Amino acid sequence: MALPQPTLIEFDHVHLAFGEQTVLEDVSFAVRRSETKVLLGETGAGKSVVLKLAIGLLRPDAGRVEVLGETVSRLPETELYALRRRIGIVFQESALFDSLTVRENVAYRLEEERRLSEDEIEARVRACLAAVELEEAIDKMPAELSGGMQRRVSIARALSTEPEILLYDSPTGGLDPITATNIMEQIIRLRDVNKVTALLVTHRLQDGFLMATHCWDPEANALRASIAENHATSFLVLHQHRAIFDGQLQTLRANPDPYLQHFLQT
Ligand SMILES: Nc1ncnc2c1ncn2[C@@H]1O[C@H](COP(=O)(O)OP(=O)(O)OP(=O)(O)O)[C@@H](O)[C@H]1O
Ligand SMILES: [Mg+2]
Repeated sequence: MALPQPTLIEFDHVHLAFGEQTVLEDVSFAVRRSETKVLLGETGAGKSVVLKLAIGLLRPDAGRVEVLGETVSRLPETELYALRRRIGIVFQESALFDSLTVRENVAYRLEEERRLSEDEIEARVRACLAAVELEEAIDKMPAELSGGMQRRVSIARALSTEPEILLYDSPTGGLDPITATNIMEQIIRLRDVNKVTALLVTHRLQDGFLMATHCWDPEANALRASIAENHATSFLVLHQHRAIFDGQLQTLRANPDPYLQHFLQT
């Protein structure tokens, strides 16, 4: 039997409040290597806050956050910088720099770090754009791109430092259904071809379901329905400050909890 993959992200009894307002109460979960955890919850449930805790932009009031073997919740700011280098983030809005070309946007962190030569940066930028099938847009400005293309550039930018973990904050938010599905295809491809470990925040249940029921077929170069549920994907549902569900899709669908059933039907 294959050994279980190591845990790359772990929240252990995390509490967080802003003044009087509790946002997270006793939230625990783990994400293993090559797994995608889909984070579901209503607006204001604390999904973006979970991502901010994972990169140490916020610190919990109690509990522990471990990422890539480091205790983020206790790490000094200087060491957080090195850790964040190993994590790619796709922000809630694409958050591209309007005055920079696609190439410059994707190269941004690499230029800042000065670890690679210009030729190496060019090769890396092209590889990241190829991973989201957008190489031809390399010389364009963000304003010349559609919303879906901008989102793909922001995924390419998150990939630029070859991160061990990707954090996606509502990557399909504000997109039409066809473009949203196209973005999900790219994300599934990264999961199945590049074995990316990810936390994916989404409002769209169908995004999570697509991830759990489909896989990338490299021969057909397209998505196909999985025969069995894809176990590289699991779900965490936040409600009233707590993680009320953590597990596979099949268990989620079968869960009798009235809130979950209502949530699944809306
Ligand atoms: N820096 C902050 N200071 C004070 N309150 C904050 C801060 N960041 C988040 N909050 C509050 O924490 C709660 C959770 O916010 P969060 O951004 O995580 O929601 P979300 O689940 O991502 O929502 P959405 O789906 O709308 O993006 C909200 O009530 C928000 O107002
Ligand atoms: Mg959010």
